[in-house]
Amino acid sequence: MAKDAVLGQFMKAATEEKVIDTTKKLRVGIIGTGWIAESHAPEYMKFPDVELVAMADLIPGKCQKFCDFLGIDATNINFYPDHKSMLENEQLDAVSICTYNATHAECAIDALNAGVNVLLEKPFTVTLDEAVQVMKAEKASGKVLTIGFQPRMDKNMQMIKKLVDSGALGDIYYIQTGGGRRRGIPNSTFIEKETAGIGAVGDIGCYSLDMVLNAIGNPKPLTVSGYMSSHFGTKEEYQYADADHTAKENADRFSVDDFAAAFIRLEGGIILDFRIAWAMHLDTPGDTIIMGTKGSLRIPSTECWNGTTGGPMTLYSDVAGNHVETVIPLVYDDGNLFERKCRTFLDAVKEGKPAPVPSWQILYNQAIIDGIVRSAKEGREVEIVIPEI
Ligand SMILES: NC(=O)c1ccc[n+]([C@@H]2O[C@H](COP(=O)([O-])OP(=O)(O)OC[C@H]3O[C@@H](n4cnc5c(N)ncnc54)[C@H](O)[C@@H]3O)[C@@H](O)[C@H]2O)c1
Repeated sequence: MAKDAVLGQFMKAATEEKVIDTTKKLRVGIIGTGWIAESHAPEYMKFPDVELVAMADLIPGKCQKFCDFLGIDATNINFYPDHKSMLENEQLDAVSICTYNATHAECAIDALNAGVNVLLEKPFTVTLDEAVQVMKAEKASGKVLTIGFQPRMDKNMQMIKKLVDSGALGDIYYIQTGGGRRRGIPNSTFIEKETAGIGAVGDIGCYSLDMVLNAIGNPKPLTVSGYMSSHFGTKEEYQYADADHTAKENADRFSVDDFAAAFIRLEGGIILDFRIAWAMHLDTPGDTIIMGTKGSLRIPSTECWNGTTGGPMTLYSDVAGNHVETVIPLVYDDGNLFERKCRTFLDAVKEGKPAPVPSWQILYNQAIIDGIVRSAKEGREVEIVIPEI
């Protein structure tokens, strides 16, 4: 530590860096070796207290290709043709579930029932009922279940909650949130009902919802009037060719939403106005705004790719009768959100701490998505009923 009192303060952070206890190595597996697993495996490889011992994928040869692509020595990694055979044959401490949405629930339930701690990729599930079933398995197992919302690890996103918690906004009564892209349909397994279950509403809508629900303490959703459409993904002119499909093939197999909007009533008299787009004839569907009795916060919108805010936020308030606009400066963040996502999960497993992104916090997120899907289908406002878990 520097002797100088001022410099010494700056040295403190480095000397306080957490030392990882390597006396017990955690045996970790990855279920689903697709695109997002590429952001999990390198993190696990990096940690000195982890042995990456197993991988599973339904597509023959995919685990090996995955390791080759990432330069991972697979000598001590066992490959399995599905998650069930992996769970049956391995003694694992933890798994990352990186499968497409439609198999999230099944994989999570089977892993928890096998006594394995779970990091489950977002969105939680496809339906509310699936999320409830996963949480029942979590409760019975006593294991850690965390949902992979890495934007929660971003310092600027965390600032939103800090600002709300500071009381600067007073009582919150109205929120507008969402985001999206002029063109940004991810294709791959994201666009078929059979694999994705839901489209933009689940893929990126869950992030916009979490940004505000987490900030205001996760009030219960009561009703939702939702709308969903697919005016872009289903048309060849707005589609594109990729390594596996022509633009026409992608348009033909597109069977989920590329736009969703909803008007949601939350407990406490709070209104949540939401819209999300994978594609539209517009640059943004609007900034996120959180309106309160003492102040309001504007959070610049993003295309929902990278898990942070779209720029500095502005706090609007009255001070001594003046209309004041305070710019909240961006905080420097090195952006390694997947490292934090995997590390905080492992720390919870090792130290018996609560999950970094607990399922109960994401349950209402999933309930809203489920409500939007039901309401859009029925063409009317629907009630949200959360079952006992
Ligand atoms: N957190 C993020 O930033 C982020 C980014 C992209 C995707 N995701 C999420 O990650 C998930 C996967 O997305 P992706 O792009 O990697 O998909 P992908 O299609 O590239 O990979 C999914 C893989 O899971 C495998 N799989 C499915 N069910 C399985 C099972 N029962 N056992 C073993 N393997 C199984 C499939 O064969 C496939 O190879 C999605 O839910 C998506 O929403 C998260």
